This record gives sequence, structure tokens and C-alpha cells, in this order.
Amino acid sequence: MGIVLKSLREIAKMREAGKVVHAVLDAVEAACVPGTSTWELARIAERVLDRGGARSAFVGYRPRGQPPYPSVLCTSVNEAVVHGIPSRQVVLAEGDIVGIDFACFKNLYCADAARTVAVGVVSAPARDLLATTREALERAIACCVPGGRLEDLGAAVQGLAEARGYSVVRDLVGHGIGRAMHEPPQVRNYGTAGRGLRLTPGLVIAIEPMINAGAPEVRTLNDGWTIVTSDRSLSAHFEHTVAITESGPVVLTAA
Ligand code: MF3
Ligand code: CO
Repeated sequence: MGIVLKSLREIAKMREAGKVVHAVLDAVEAACVPGTSTWELARIAERVLDRGGARSAFVGYRPRGQPPYPSVLCTSVNEAVVHGIPSRQVVLAEGDIVGIDFACFKNLYCADAARTVAVGVVSAPARDLLATTREALERAIACCVPGGRLEDLGAAVQGLAEARGYSVVRDLVGHGIGRAMHEPPQVRNYGTAGRGLRLTPGLVIAIEPMINAGAPEVRTLNDGWTIVTSDRSLSAHFEHTVAITESGPVVLTAA
């Protein structure tokens, strides 16, 4: 299936899903304090999801060759890049960073977002990694104008990350989004400005830079889901669902 452009009516529906995503992430972020387990974070996400009248996009999600995903939320601590599974055994500690990732369907349309949160006071290098990854996402969003090119986004992320001595994960990408959580096109976090698909109004994408303090390589743990940095360096992940409109980017998973 090719790229499906969305009408303004469809984008308005995705915005409704995006508001639920934002409310969930706000509630979960507020609970990211020392002593909270990632299992408790998932329970909070479930409650806010229910209140929002939406359905999880993660529970039972099953790409080829993987076990079905077992939770509404991904919680990825420290060297975990993405797709960490919430667990009673994983208790947040002062100084940790935790990626929280959530997507849901409302009125048949999906929205997807993530952020990485500091637990209590974190080290200066950890703080800088979070700030840089957040800024990389903002710079990529600023590239979402009609007439721009898809690789402008990757070039913006890669340029910032590498200028600060970090590396960009290559094995995982952002994605088109709409009636399905994952649609074409793939949205890479590296590339050459001026290349790739021409951006047009109606294109809706989930942009999700994953930036490592060390080397770019990642591997999957034995649970079949959790992706960690191969060198066990810290990693951060921020994501928004963004619509390209005549008047520029609209962040559908904002407040
Ligand atoms: N938000 C992630 C993504 O864009 C999470 C999907 S993994 C899941 O791919 F299994 F939890 F759904
Ligand atoms: Co995503």
C-alpha cells in the first residue's frame, strides 16, 4: 500500500486521538519518580486511555516474527532505546531516564507519541542527551512544510546529534500514521537535506528521533521486544505525530 494523504476532516480526528495520547503521557510523566515501577506507569496509562474513550494501539500488536506486545505502554529505562515492557520488577531510581511511548485509536484514527523523562535529579550528560533529542525532534518538525523533502528531517536530527557527539539509531524509524499505526513512508533520523519524498499537505507522520550517547548499534533483548544500545550507553527517544498542512506543521499530539 502506498502513502495515504489525509483530509482536514481526518486530521481533525487524529487530533482527537492525539489529545488522549498527550493526556496519557502527562499523567505517566508525573508518576516517573523514584520508587514507582514501570508496571504502575502502565496502569496509569490504562486509566487515562479509558477516560479518553480510546483504544490502545500497542496491546496485541504483532509484527512478523515477534511475540504480541503485552502492554498499553512502552517504558524504556537508561540503555533501553525503545519498546521496553512494563514490569513490576523494574522500579525507577533517582538518576534514571525513562522513555515513555504510547499510541491509541480514537474514531478509527491513530496518534503516537513518546518522551524521555528524568527521574529525580539526573547527571549532566543525561540531561544534555534529553535536551538534544527533544531539540532534534523540534528541528525535524520545523522541516514539515509543503515543498520540503523527507530527508530534510533526518538531516536535521543527524546534524544536531552528531554535532553534540551523539549518534543516531539507524535500525528503527518513524512512520506514516492514520487508520493504521504504521503506514508508509518510513521516516529516517539521518539523511541528506533536499532529498527524498516531497512533502505535501495531508501527509501525516510520526517523527521519532532515537539518539544514543555512544555508538548507534542496537540489539533486541530475549523478551523479544526491548531494544537496547549494544554498548549499553544511554539512549533517548522523543516522538510526535505531525500533519503537514498548507500553513506548515501541526503537532497532533501536543497539549
Ligand atoms: N510507538 C512505537 C512505534 O512507533 C511503538 C510500537 S511497538 C508496540 O513503533 F508494540 F508497542 F506497539
Ligand atoms: Co511511532
